[in-house]
Amino acid sequence: MRYHEPVMVREILKVLDLRAGSTVADGTLGTGGHAMEIARIIGPKGRLIGLDRDPRMLDLGRNRLREAFPTGGPTMSFHARPYEALREILDAEGLAGVDAVLLDLGVNSLHLDDAERGFSFMQDGPLDGRFNENEGTKSMADIVNNSSERELSALLLANDERLGRPIAREIVHRRRTKPFTRTAELAQLVWSVYPPAGRHGRIHPATRTFQALRIAANDELGAVDRGVRVCAEALLPGGRFACVSFHSGEDRIVKSIFRELTQPRPDPNNLYSATTSEGIEFEAVTRGAVASSDEEAEANPRARSAKLRCIARKGGVA
Ligand SMILES: C[S@@+](CC[C@H](N)C(=O)[O-])C[C@H]1O[C@@H](n2cnc3c(N)ncnc32)[C@H](O)[C@@H]1O
Repeated sequence: MRYHEPVMVREILKVLDLRAGSTVADGTLGTGGHAMEIARIIGPKGRLIGLDRDPRMLDLGRNRLREAFPTGGPTMSFHARPYEALREILDAEGLAGVDAVLLDLGVNSLHLDDAERGFSFMQDGPLDGRFNENEGTKSMADIVNNSSERELSALLLANDERLGRPIAREIVHRRRTKPFTRTAELAQLVWSVYPPAGRHGRIHPATRTFQALRIAANDELGAVDRGVRVCAEALLPGGRFACVSFHSGEDRIVKSIFRELTQPRPDPNNLYSATTSEGIEFEAVTRGAVASSDEEAEANPRARSAKLRCIARKGGVA
């Protein structure tokens, strides 16, 4: 079985500062690469709560962890839910909070490997790209076939696809004859819009278009906006929250929420002062974003765009 290669493992473990017996939530379990390392550190007295919005990924991660720790591992529970649901899950498990949360955002390499999931422009498959078809979200095909030219172009331009306008125009022109159903049809169209000289750059011409559509299909930026606060507020005093993003839009949201949460608290007597809904305070663990090492970026191209940020909830024992 081939698993997703986890990024920045050393750096993440360093900032999370886990102990034997810690309670940890991995909000994006995937195939469990990070969770395996976490489970080793927290040991039999620890507790691991794994979440993934994609039930297929959750199953892979769960099976891997259960096989690796038939005995002697932490107490583990697994939930096919988005990380926004963390508070709800902790309440159901009778837990006040956790010592650490990890979010490793975006897609799993297994999503891209499986043509039938419709995430990849490298292989032909249904134009889908949803983490979970049962959530009622739109597929990439729904977006491509039903959005206006203006909406499509805005979506692509916002994802740094400089040819967003001509690509949107061409999509709308072609779909009049036949709606898009396959990844290869869309990849081919984007390729054809690129001038020949621009087709052999560092990344494939369809990269940004597919990424923009996948992010929209799963409302990934909305999920970050809602979920990062939930995860921060689930920390126990002294707990840490590490978040790895791969996309500038995601990182911008994480950065802005972390900045807001770690700002020095205004006068506590001022009833109008900004605070979290729980009234808890945070401090930065990382100054700015931490990037992967040169060796890792060389070995794993996905690590090149990774940005790690971490905050801690104030209080608790050092
Ligand atoms: C980069 S992978 C995580 C890989 C994992 N750390 C590992 O080592 O195998 C991201 C995972 O997050 C999941 N995911 C994406 N959005 C999510 C959300 N809102 N809530 C929970 N999981 C999500 C995806 O299904 C995917 O499996």
